[in-house]
Amino acid sequence: MTTQETPTRVITVGIGGATSSGKTILAKHLQNCLHNSYIIHQDDFVPPAEKLPIDEEYGFTDWDNPPGAIDWDRMAAFLSGLKQTGNVPADHQSFDNYNNTTPVPIEDQAIEEWRRKSERIASDHLEKYGEKLVWALIDGFLLYWDEARTTISSAVCLKSWLIMLKRIVSDLDMRVFLRVPEDVARKRREARAYYTPEGDTWHDPPHYWEKIVWPAYIRAHQHMFEGEDVVNGSPNGKVKDLILFESTETKMEDMVNVVMQRALSFNVNAK
Ligand SMILES: Nc1ncnc2c1ncn2[C@@H]1O[C@H](COP(=O)(O)OP(=O)(O)O)[C@@H](O)[C@H]1O
Ligand SMILES: [Mg+2]
Repeated sequence: MTTQETPTRVITVGIGGATSSGKTILAKHLQNCLHNSYIIHQDDFVPPAEKLPIDEEYGFTDWDNPPGAIDWDRMAAFLSGLKQTGNVPADHQSFDNYNNTTPVPIEDQAIEEWRRKSERIASDHLEKYGEKLVWALIDGFLLYWDEARTTISSAVCLKSWLIMLKRIVSDLDMRVFLRVPEDVARKRREARAYYTPEGDTWHDPPHYWEKIVWPAYIRAHQHMFEGEDVVNGSPNGKVKDLILFESTETKMEDMVNVVMQRALSFNVNAK
């Protein structure tokens, strides 16, 4: 029987990709497949609107530019706490429930089978190592930005960001990326509204996509692909052992199966 004192072993699975690539839907299926699992949404680490830059040409708030779009320090501290304790603090608020999405279901039977397997693996792990196995699914549109070469001029700021951000990538045990064509992502995104930290609802204003969202996505991910080709390039190895899905060509259930296969064969003693 487990007690409060049973040490936990947290395995972190990063699920990155452009807006509307299906990250949150995939993460929710994986959560249902994995015994003792949490989802951490990077969207919950967005700074308040007044801290974000205003686009000079159109006057809208920029929610997407990698250095400022996330409170990196808070997220790094949160993940390192999660790694150590295996718990999400009781006061952590997630706004994900307010986001409207259209479900992309998979077979219940697939979920049940993975769930049984993951329970068995967790119970073997507890017996063998005396540790409770916990899975943390980190869902984020800027998960892998931290190794990008940014063009920020302040060397001091850049250095401190890179030090903080390194901690996020180094806390990920597995790294998944959902690639999506621009037209598909744009169409899906136009059908959505976002909940902001202030409790407002955000709809992209005209030109926000081509001026802000897509260029920021390309900037944040070009370091990961051959020829800096985020749209078609192969992964170049800078993000280690990346599991890349062409998300419009791979069925949701197949993505779940690939990630689960890898997750349940993850060697907890490798690090
Ligand atoms: N594989 C898919 N097939 C069809 N629609 C999808 C797929 N993945 C995502 N979508 C649609 O895209 C929208 C955004 O999905 P979501 O998982 O919230 O994206 P993200 O978290 O990457 O922004 C949802 O409304 C969903 O129905
Ligand atoms: Mg999402």
